[in-house]
Formats: sequence, C-alpha cells, structure tokens
Amino acid sequence: MKTKSVLVSVFIAVTASLVQAAPASIEDSIASHASRDGIALSVIDSTPTILAAIADTYRDKGVEYTQGNRRRSAKPVVRRGVGNIFDVHSHAIPDWYRAITPFAGGNVASGSGGGFATPQWNVSAHMAFMDTIGISHSVLGFTGPSANAYFGDKARTIALARLINEQLAAFARTYPDTFSFFASIPLPYVEESITELKYAVNELGAVGIALMSNHEGLYLGYDLFTPFWEALDGLGGRQIVYVHPTTPYLKVNDQWIPANPYFEMDQSRMEFYMETARTFMDLTVKQTIHNFTNTHFVLPHVGGAFPVMIDRVLKTMHTDLYEASLEIYRTRFWWDSASPTYFHQIGGLLAYDIPKGNLLYGTDFPFINAAVTAADFESIMAYPGLTDEEKEDLLSRNYQQLFGDKLHFS
Ligand SMILES: *[C@@H]1O[C@H](CO)[C@@H](O)[C@H](O)[C@H]1NC(C)=O
Ligand SMILES: *[C@@H]1O[C@H](CO)[C@@H](O)[C@H](O)[C@H]1NC(C)=O
Repeated sequence: MKTKSVLVSVFIAVTASLVQAAPASIEDSIASHASRDGIALSVIDSTPTILAAIADTYRDKGVEYTQGNRRRSAKPVVRRGVGNIFDVHSHAIPDWYRAITPFAGGNVASGSGGGFATPQWNVSAHMAFMDTIGISHSVLGFTGPSANAYFGDKARTIALARLINEQLAAFARTYPDTFSFFASIPLPYVEESITELKYAVNELGAVGIALMSNHEGLYLGYDLFTPFWEALDGLGGRQIVYVHPTTPYLKVNDQWIPANPYFEMDQSRMEFYMETARTFMDLTVKQTIHNFTNTHFVLPHVGGAFPVMIDRVLKTMHTDLYEASLEIYRTRFWWDSASPTYFHQIGGLLAYDIPKGNLLYGTDFPFINAAVTAADFESIMAYPGLTDEEKEDLLSRNYQQLFGDKLHFS
C-alpha cells in the first residue's frame, strides 16, 4: 500500500512536470521562432549577449515576450494633435550593435574628413531628447549598414536582420506609446527577405520596413528583387517602405569595395544624398514604383539629391515615364525633414508641386546633435512657404494619412 502510493505520487509528479513544462525563456522563444524560419542565430558570435539584451528590454518593464504578438494589440498608441510631434526618422543603436559596427551611418574614417564613431544610444537618452523637441512618438529604424554589416555573408546577414527586428519589437512592445519600428530586411537574399518581412510585419508588429539605398551594391530596382516587391505589395493593405541611405560600393576586379570618391568627408555627408538619388531613380526607371501600387515610400532628408535629378533623367532618357512618375511622387511618396532641409532645399522639392500634406517630420537622432536638430526645427517654424496650419500638419498630423490604421490614436 505504502509502496503503491509512493509510486502513484511519483507518477503524478512526473506527469505534472511534463504537462507544466517551465515556460520557455524569452531567449528560447526567440531562438525557436528563428529555427522555425530556418535561421541559425548562432552564426553570430555575440548572439548570446544580444539575446540577453533583448530579454532585458522586456524584463526591465515586466512585459511578456508574446504580449502584442497579435496584430491588433501590437499597434502602437499615438497621442494625436498639435504639440504631439511625430518623428518618422530616428535610430535605435543598442550597445551590441555599436560593438558590431563601430562606424555605423557611413561615418567611415577617411582622409582629413575624419569620420566619427557610432554614437552611444539608449532608450532613456532617446526619451530625454524627444522631450526637448516635444516629440511624443518616434518610429525607430536602424541606420546603414543595418543587417548588411557582414558583406557577402548570407547566414550572418539573415541572422542579424532577425536579431535587429526582435530588438526593435522589444522596444516597441515595452514602450508602445513612445516607439514603433521599421523592420530591417536581409536583402540581397530575396527568399529569406520575404520570410523576414512576413515575420516582422505579421508577428512582430512592424509598421513598415526600412530598406537601405543599396544592399551589397545592388540598388532597390534590381531585377532579381522583383519577387520581394511582389510579396511586400501583396501582404494586404498599404505597405510602407522607409529608405535609408548607406555606404555606396563599387565593383573593382570582381571585388566589392566601399566607395568614397570625395574622401575629404565621411560618406554620410554628401554620398548619402547621392545614394538616395540613385536608388529612387532606379526604382523609377525599372518601374518598381509604378507596378506595386499598395506600396508607399518615406524618403529621407526630403529626398536628398533625388528631386534635383528628376527632370534631368526623365526629360532626357525616360520621357515616357515622366507624367506617371510625378503622379507617384505626389501621392505615394512622403518626404521627411531630417537634416537642415528647411528652408533652402525644401523649395526645390515643392517646385515639383508635391502636396504639403506629404511632408513629414524627422530628426535622424542620435546622428545629428541636439543643437542642429533644434536649429532645424526653428527653420521649419520660420519657413515662409508654409502656413502655420501646414506646419502643424507637418509636425503632428500628416503622418496619420500615411500610417492610417497601423497605429492606434488616443
Ligand atoms: C544613456 O546614454 C546617455 C547618452 O549617451 C548616457 O549619458 C547615459 O549614461 C546612458 N545611460 C545608461 C543607463 O546607459
Ligand atoms: C513593371 O511592368 C512593366 C510592364 O508594364 C515591365 O516592363 C517592368 O519590367 C516591370 N518592372 C518591375 C520592377 O516589375
């Protein structure tokens, strides 16, 4: 009798431990989602550190990893109205990413122009910055090289994109009133990029994706990228692509090398404007923007050097695309203000009759220092080409037309 009851209790205990397996840790959950999608996170040496940092983001606020996985509750909550400024262009740089990319954002040291190290960043510094301007919500994205920190290394590029997106989702779920995010995509690897796109948008709750101006030297209209654009455009509803400039590459003797023709300055200064022009012209002449009509674009720095190139290219060698392209630039293109773009540069863009309702506010934090950002803000406020109401729209309302039901408003 006694033996029997011991056996019974052992049986019960063993069964109970099988049924109530300890809940998976955040690290294990992330790893199991990755392995389900065929991604080996362990190809990156610092993956254990990265997973611990992501888990800490949740644990610091006691947020469940799965919380917000369902699409609706994943939507960020945005305070609406005048004075609640919306920043569509800002960057997260967790310490682990700074360790991988000591010169992110095209700040490669070269010539007498120097180059500067990837800035230190954290959530509390970002929130303190937002308060100085009156920003109530920021969309976080990674700057160049984003997931392409390991040029030519497919496995590590795919793993890094996943880790970046898990980290961004952790920030957005932990601080849903303050942050939402644009997901990183591991192009040029098209099939894996489609997998990551679906995971980031459908499961992690990304409000859009961040593409680099080029991925391993290939601009966004590249022929073999078309299946990616098809998958994106077909996800259902409006899709938002924020494009960020990155280091240009040149193929020399079958080797890709980072290019900085004017080596007296870091690449971000002038080459980033050229990169924006190159990739949007590529998307235009390959007709990517014409064929995929659910897809909207956020152009950094009110388009960089792109607007100045439009007539030169489309009135000389692609005249058949002129009218239709301008129509797209006026409807599905949205132009962020990051950099000292007001008020000389903006005049060139508005000369193409771009509606003022498509102008957005962006800061580029933490790459632009607080003094320059404050001066940029003052320049918008002083710009004679917008009425007071149009300025309020730019800061606090136009984004609602772009994001629509991807955000909750309060
Ligand atoms: C956050 O970043 C700021 C700015 O670099 C730095 O001064 C501060 O010490 C950091 N805080 C933490 C907790 O790391
Ligand atoms: C867009 O469609 C046109 C035909 O209308 C085709 O010539 C072009 O290659 C397509 N471009 C892309 C990127 O799908």
